[in-house]
Amino acid sequence: MKITIIGTGYVGLVSGAVFADWGHNVMCLDIDKDKVDKINKGIMPIYEEGLEELVKKVSSEGRFKATTDYKSSIEHGELIFICVGTPSNQAGAANLNYVFSAAESIGKYMPNDEYKVVITKSTVPVGTHNKVREHVRIGAGNKKINFDVASNPEFLREGTSIYDANNTDRVVIGSDSEKALDILEDLYKHLDAPIVKTDLASAELIKYAANSFLATKISFINEISQICERTGADVKSVALGMGLDKRIGSRFLNAGIGYGGSCFPKDVEALYRTSSEYFYDFRLLRGVMDANERQKDYFVDKVFRKYGTNLSELTFGVLGAAFKNGTDDTRKSVAISVIRTLRGAGARIKLFDPAALENAKKELGQDNVKYSDNAEDVFKKADALFILTEWPEFANLEYPELVKDMNKKVIFDGRNLLDPIEMKDLGVEYYGVGRKDDADDTHENGVK
Ligand code: UDX
Repeated sequence: MKITIIGTGYVGLVSGAVFADWGHNVMCLDIDKDKVDKINKGIMPIYEEGLEELVKKVSSEGRFKATTDYKSSIEHGELIFICVGTPSNQAGAANLNYVFSAAESIGKYMPNDEYKVVITKSTVPVGTHNKVREHVRIGAGNKKINFDVASNPEFLREGTSIYDANNTDRVVIGSDSEKALDILEDLYKHLDAPIVKTDLASAELIKYAANSFLATKISFINEISQICERTGADVKSVALGMGLDKRIGSRFLNAGIGYGGSCFPKDVEALYRTSSEYFYDFRLLRGVMDANERQKDYFVDKVFRKYGTNLSELTFGVLGAAFKNGTDDTRKSVAISVIRTLRGAGARIKLFDPAALENAKKELGQDNVKYSDNAEDVFKKADALFILTEWPEFANLEYPELVKDMNKKVIFDGRNLLDPIEMKDLGVEYYGVGRKDDADDTHENGVK
């Protein structure tokens, strides 16, 4: 099939490369010439495991090309995927300007009477597709165009997105046109995954409902971690015991400093907002968002309880800046937010992240933050070590040796990567999230 992808962010670029790998002929369109030139030279604008190799492979096989040229790329695609960003605006609603402007350009360059399917992969609120249809028509003016719209939300996780695209749990396609549904089904039917064919509104809502449910799971276990701290229970054991119930499942039950990234905060907020627009007060979601904010504050409060609120005499080693492991992405990263708070209280920071240092530099600058190119370095002369991103390699460092380099053996583990007992045995004052044997016993037995 001939496929056009508009937008070469995480979703667009990965989807384009994967479709090409499946044998389709893909053109990826972006307005950023620099980005397009780099992609065509095999230089990726983002870090994503396996992406560079895949793009190089499909480009050399002649099935993948990036371009800035709207006309040729819209003419090219039988399927045109809109994969542009939908950032939250100040009120928390998804900003759809990029989506609508892409839709108008599609209309403008759509050849007369040649059937195409315009598909939204960007996460858009319920009801957006009717507006996409309208904007395509606006762009087309008086031309006679022949198209259907469809929704095909993506469920890719950053860091594992190529794997996810090939091993998805399910494919969701929504349209009011049987023809469009059949064409999209053809695209995905080789995958070993059920295909949910539904109407447009349901497809749009599935994405928000799924992400909000996962965020709810995280906030739920984070709330449980608070009860653990107050009762002397251990959240890891509780999560293990809960997760083995197949109805619950063990994934997304890691307590920590809260969820971040470009999806969960935005999508939960946007669904809450949509509910309000339809005069429904989705209180559970309000609680999910509040719990997420509080969780970060509880963690930082442990630091302030130990040192007071003036941290100006202290140097902290920090492991992790990305919003999660496996990515260089620092958008809405809770790690960055915690670092900002610590620095704001006067602390000097020495930071390492295996992939996200460049983006961290852009967010944090040089003021009281030094950047290390290895994990071991941040231990040296540190008054405390912070683990803020769940990179698995942070769990496997040579702690017995490394803690000897510290000024004080204190660890704040915001992702529960380490074992509190092992740390205690190394003479480390260990602070986790909802762990038994945490050095901070302020909450135990309900005593504040
Ligand atoms: C998410 C969805 O998983 C994906 O299906 C969707 O398409 C896009 O949004 P992503 O944003 O890449 O993917 O990250 P994800 O792995 O879901 O993690 C989101 C955040 O939750 C991260 O900050 C992570 O640290 C946090 N998290 C995740 C937890 O705090 N605990 C957990 O148990 C799991």
